[in-house]
Amino acid sequence: MSETSHSAAELGASTEGFQPRIVAFFCNWCTYTASDLAGVSRLQYAPNARIIRVMCSGRLDPQFVLVALRQGADGVLIGGCHPGDCHYQEGNYKCLRRYELLRRLLGQMGIEPQRVRLEWISASEGDRVREAINEMTEQLRRLGPLRLASIPTPHRHEVLSPVKRAGRPVLAKAE
Ligand code: FES
Repeated sequence: MSETSHSAAELGASTEGFQPRIVAFFCNWCTYTASDLAGVSRLQYAPNARIIRVMCSGRLDPQFVLVALRQGADGVLIGGCHPGDCHYQEGNYKCLRRYELLRRLLGQMGIEPQRVRLEWISASEGDRVREAINEMTEQLRRLGPLRLASIPTPHRHEVLSPVKRAGRPVLAKAE
C-alpha cells in the first residue's frame, strides 16, 4: 500500500496555531443526546469537532472513517451507548470489533491509530462529551496535522469485515 502519513512532529514542521479537525460520529440515542445536553448545560469544550448523527454506532462503516480522514479530518471520534445499552442489541459490539480492526489497518497504513477514538457515553453524560472532545483535540495537537496524500478506499461493494483468516483482517464482500 502506498501510504503517506507523517505527523508534523516527525516532519519537523511547526504546529503552532494548529487547530485539529475532528469528525465525530455519535449515536442518536446516547452520545448525540449527551452532546445536546452539554450544549444546554453550557459546558465549554473545544470547537474542533463536527458532529454527525448516526442511529447506532453499529451503523458506522469503517469506510466513513477513511473517507473523513482522506477528506481532511485529523481525527475521528466515535460515540456509542455503553455495552449492554445499545437500542439495537449488539450494534455497539459490532462497532467495537470494527474499531479494533480499523486501528490495526490504520497502523499498517502508517497513520497513528490514536487518531481514531471510541467512547461509550450515555445520554446523561454531557461532561464526558466535553472531556472526550477536549482530550482528543489535545492529542491531535500533539500528533500534528494528518498529512495524507491518499488512502485507498475499499470498492463500493466491499466492506471491512471483522472476519480474520490466519490472524489477518480481510476484506469481505457485503451481503
Ligand atoms: S443504539 Fe447507541 S450504540 Fe447502538
